Amino acid sequence: MKPRILLTGKNGQVGFELHRLLLALGQVVAPDRYALDLFAANSIRRTVRDVRPQLIVNAAAYTAVDAAETDQVNAHAINAEAPAILAEEAKKIGAALVHYSTDYVFDGSKKVPYEEKDPTNPINVYGKTKLAGEQAVRSSGVPHLIFRTAWVYATRGRNFLLTILRLATEREELKVVCDQIGAPTCAADIAAATTKILADIYSQNNEAPAFSKVMGTYHMTAAGQTTWYDFAKAILDEASHAPQVLSRFAAATQGRPLLARRIIPILASEYGSRTRRPAYSVLSNSRLAQTFDMALPDWRNQLQHCFAS
Ligand SMILES: NC(=O)c1ccc[n+]([C@@H]2O[C@H](COP(=O)([O-])OP(=O)(O)OC[C@H]3O[C@@H](n4cnc5c(N)ncnc54)[C@H](OP(=O)(O)O)[C@@H]3O)[C@@H](O)[C@H]2O)c1
Repeated sequence: MKPRILLTGKNGQVGFELHRLLLALGQVVAPDRYALDLFAANSIRRTVRDVRPQLIVNAAAYTAVDAAETDQVNAHAINAEAPAILAEEAKKIGAALVHYSTDYVFDGSKKVPYEEKDPTNPINVYGKTKLAGEQAVRSSGVPHLIFRTAWVYATRGRNFLLTILRLATEREELKVVCDQIGAPTCAADIAAATTKILADIYSQNNEAPAFSKVMGTYHMTAAGQTTWYDFAKAILDEASHAPQVLSRFAAATQGRPLLARRIIPILASEYGSRTRRPAYSVLSNSRLAQTFDMALPDWRNQLQHCFAS
């Protein structure tokens, strides 16, 4: 039997990709924020009770890292309280929960990839609210998978890739932070990995207890690491080698040609953001590989694929 799946965040970067892929797994009910407002506890409870899913995939989140600093109530509601309610309601009806979290639960003081068991210590509001969401899911006792990912981009939505392409059509020179290290991860790869893992679980047993064997927190990012500066250089490299594909990014470029000739590395301290971000947030994906025999491609390959597909 195929599971009935309640998917949140279907218009987000990861949610959009999941919406297409999860259809192969089961019946997908994917309300947008007007049909299911995660700020409203009653809306969440009513939707879960009406849909009665066997699986909830929560791809919705408050992801505006800078805005979260001054909009803590909303960020906490969407990132911490909503997952707590989803977990509670899922547990009541025997459903399982897939939830996403972030590399920003760490403070960035490590110099080698973070493992799942490493102590968390978020240094901004977004990271704190996401950590609270994780903790709520874990402590609810619901069968769950929490996938921590990082530096997410896609051909749609709001992300670094599209910002760089837009700026590159507006300016000859871009300044990009060179002292923060992470792993840019394409939303399509996150969705594909999630769907494959779920397909394996449901091919064995479509009941929630199948989750019990593997339930827990996993890092799920592109392999490799880079800086925002080198990521920006790679984006412009891809764009200048394949100008014909720029039409796919028309929302960012408005059909304009690339102007940017130079990218200047700057320090995060020179960038002028008041939001603290970890200097190093590379995640080790070993646990994902060991448990699910799953490895996401290297960040550079993911970027090439994003431009090529
Ligand atoms: N973006 C990143 O760089 C990044 C990095 C690490 C981890 N993550 C995590 O990865 C997951 C997916 O992120 P993403 O980049 O795909 O997010 P995204 O593109 O920002 O999409 C977020 C989704 O959440 C929905 N949403 C926000 N507030 C809502 C509300 N009150 N009620 C219902 N829906 C609401 C949005 O709806 P609308 O479409 O209507 O706005 C959107 O569909 C999240 O858990 C995020 O924390 C993201």
